[in-house]
Amino acid sequence: MSDLFPKGFLIGGAIAANQAEGAFDKDGKGLSTADIQPYLPGVDKKKLYFNNMDSNTFDEYINGDFYYPKRNAVHFYDRYKEYIDKLSEMDCQVLRLSVAWTRIFPNGDDDEPLEDGLKFYQDLFEYMKKKGIEPIVTINHYELPLKLVTKYGGWANHKLIDLFVKYSKVIINRYHDLVKYWIVINQINLVHLEAFASLGVIYDKVDNYEKVKYQAIHHQFVASATVTKFAHELDSTLKMGVMMADYTTYPMTPSPEDTELNFERNRMQYFFSDVLIRGKYPQYALNYFKANDIKLDILDSELTVINENTADFLCVSYYYSNVIDSKKDNMNPASVEPNPYINANEWGWGINPKGLYICLSQYWDRYQIPIMIGENGFGFNDVLTKDNKIHDEYRIDYTKKHLAAVLKAINNGANIFAYCSWAPFDIISAGTAEMDKRYGFIYVDYDNYGKGSGRLIEKDSFNWYKKTIDSRGSNLHE
Ligand code: BG6
Repeated sequence: MSDLFPKGFLIGGAIAANQAEGAFDKDGKGLSTADIQPYLPGVDKKKLYFNNMDSNTFDEYINGDFYYPKRNAVHFYDRYKEYIDKLSEMDCQVLRLSVAWTRIFPNGDDDEPLEDGLKFYQDLFEYMKKKGIEPIVTINHYELPLKLVTKYGGWANHKLIDLFVKYSKVIINRYHDLVKYWIVINQINLVHLEAFASLGVIYDKVDNYEKVKYQAIHHQFVASATVTKFAHELDSTLKMGVMMADYTTYPMTPSPEDTELNFERNRMQYFFSDVLIRGKYPQYALNYFKANDIKLDILDSELTVINENTADFLCVSYYYSNVIDSKKDNMNPASVEPNPYINANEWGWGINPKGLYICLSQYWDRYQIPIMIGENGFGFNDVLTKDNKIHDEYRIDYTKKHLAAVLKAINNGANIFAYCSWAPFDIISAGTAEMDKRYGFIYVDYDNYGKGSGRLIEKDSFNWYKKTIDSRGSNLHE
C-alpha cells in the first residue's frame, strides 16, 4: 500500500483535435463531421444533439446559418506552442491528443496524404517531447471526413476499413519514433450515445439502424486489429490501445429484475473490449444478436485478424455513473436513470468517484492488461472574476477524489500507468459544442461564439494539479 502514485505513473491531460485545433480550412484540411456541429443557443444541456442523425438535420447542419464552434475551437493549430508551454509550466507529463484525419486525407479517400498536415503533427510532437510531455495519440476521435458520410455512408460501409487503415499506416509510419502509445478509436463502445460522431451513419438512410450500428462496429473492430498488426510489425515497441467510455450502471434496487438487467447491460458494454482484448466475439453477444435479429456480415479472415491482433492496453474514460430500473429501462444503453444518491452537474453528469475505483478494478480483474485513464474531469461554467481569477475548488475536489480512487485501484493490484485529465485547458464541448462547459485547469478566454481575448489564465486548480504531479499525489490526502 502506498499513499503516492508509483514512480513512472504519468499524470497529465487529454484533448481532441476537433475540439481544440480550429483552422478548419487551413493548409488543405477537409471538412469533418465535427465541423458541421452547430452551437445551438438555449440548448437543453441534458440532451444529446449530435447523436442519432437524420437526413433532414444533417442537411440543415450542412447548409444552415449557424455558428460552428469547432471550426475555430481554441486555435490550438496556430497557438500550440503557447498551450504546450503552459502545460509544461504545470509539469504535465503526458498529453493524450488526436490527429485530425482530414488534415492528412481531406476527403478520407484521397490518393496521397497532405504534407502540411503531417508536418504540423511532427512539429507538435517534437515540441511536446522537447518540453518533457509524452504524446499519446488517438487516431480517430469523433471526426470523420465528411465525404465518408455523404459518399460511403460512414462506418456502415466495409470500404471504411481500408480507408482508415491507409490513413493509420501513414501516421504510424511517420510518428512511431515520437509516439509510443496509440489509441485506435475514441470510446469505441459509445455507439448508442455518440452514434453519429462515432460511426457517421445517418439513421433514416439505413433499413435496420441497430443492426447497421453493430455492422459498423464490426468494421471498426477489423480496422483496429489490422492497424494493431501493422504497428506491431513495424515497431515491436509500440503499444496499441482500445478505448472504452466507462458506462457501468448500478441497479436501482436489489430486486432480481433490476440486478439481472443491470448485469446484462453491463456485459454488453464489455462486449467491445472483450472482442478487442480477448480476440473473439463472446457467446453472450452472439445470443443477443440472434435474439434481436441482428445478422452481421463477418468474414472468417476478419475473425482471424481480430483474434491474432489484440490490444496491448485499455484506455478508459470516466465521468459519471447512472442507475437502471427494470420497470423503465431496457437493453438500450441510452436509457438510464439518475442515481438518487449522488449529485450531478448542470449537464446531468452524476459525480461518483467510487465508480472510478469500481470500474478500474473490474476492468483489471477481467483483462489483466495495463490500463490508463484517458479522460476524467469536471465540466463547469467557470466564473472569471474582475481580478482575473477562477476559484474552481469544485474541480479540485472532483479531481482529488477521482485520483484517490485511481490510487486505491492501484493499491489493490491494478496495473494503471497514466491519468489524463479532460481537458487541461478549456476547449469546445463534444456534446453541446459550447465553450461554457469548461474542464480546464487553464481558462481560455473565448466565449460560445469564439469571441474573446484568447488569454490563458491559470485557475486555482492549476497550482493544485501541478503540486499533485510534482509530489505524485501527496496532496490527495490533505
Ligand atoms: C468524451 C469525449 O466522451 O467526453 C470527449 O471523448 C468529450 O471528446 C468528453 O469532450 C466530455 O464531453 P463534453 O460533451 O462535456 O465535451
